[in-house]
Amino acid sequence: MFQINCLNPIAQVGLKNFTDQYEITSEVKNADGILVRSASMHEMELPESLLAVARAGAGVNNIPLDKCAEHGVVVFNTPGANANGVKELVIAGMLLAARDVVSGIEWVKASREDPDIAKAAEKAKKNFAGTEIKGKKLGVIGLGAIGVKVANAAVALDMEVYGYDPYLSVNAAWSLSRAVHHVTNVEDIYAQCDYITIHVPLMDSTKGMINAEAVGKMKDGVILLNFARDLLADEEDVLEGLHSGKIARYVSDFPNATTAGQKGCIVIPHLGASTEESEDNCAVMAVEEMMDYLENGNIRNS
Ligand code: MLT
Repeated sequence: MFQINCLNPIAQVGLKNFTDQYEITSEVKNADGILVRSASMHEMELPESLLAVARAGAGVNNIPLDKCAEHGVVVFNTPGANANGVKELVIAGMLLAARDVVSGIEWVKASREDPDIAKAAEKAKKNFAGTEIKGKKLGVIGLGAIGVKVANAAVALDMEVYGYDPYLSVNAAWSLSRAVHHVTNVEDIYAQCDYITIHVPLMDSTKGMINAEAVGKMKDGVILLNFARDLLADEEDVLEGLHSGKIARYVSDFPNATTAGQKGCIVIPHLGASTEESEDNCAVMAVEEMMDYLENGNIRNS
């Protein structure tokens, strides 16, 4: 019988569930496996007995990979399990940016005491006129599980979609709609697209890839979306791009002091995968991976 502990409430699967990352250090000395969603394990002392960590999510930047490798601890993630949840919010983010829904909602909130709010709305609505995404060019940087879904959904919404991924997998290539144009240079996306969405992992080579130089190559009035990782974008450079009008809107799932509340920014508190379905899918995949490893020695998604 293995002891698995759950760092953060990812699923009701009958496991001991910890919500405080430090509690696990003091209470769990004998865990064979740890399931973790968003809590950081970087400060945590790994139990001597630990054999595996399963991340209920795609990114593994909350897991000390080097420390795990040193201790021979296998690390799993759950690629694709929350991709639909993230895709839906990316599409919502594009629509929110295109239609200025956020300003409209703020106006309604501020006008809620006005007994003639309906009449006032008819006058005010010209301030919130938007555009349609149909026919606009969308650049998808990174065609993994999420990028592919976003690209296909955007094709279904009549966008002209350009995809860039130097490591495109055969599976991704097969599941992409034929309508997606593949480019071999990310600069083609910068130069041509009205909307750009990033779906790459955070690595040394991708950190800060959306910087002043990249922004400078984008079309004027571009709408930029980041639902992948905060550090992919240099937020100061993005803010500068917003101030100069180069970037019309920045939609980010990662609040930080630089962009939160700024004009042109729609910032969401990392909700991409926060759906019941995505959380269940990730939890189930993480538990299955963990059990398959502990019981049978099989390694999937490591
Ligand atoms: C992921 O890495 O899978 C997403 O960012 C979602 C999450 O961490 O909750």
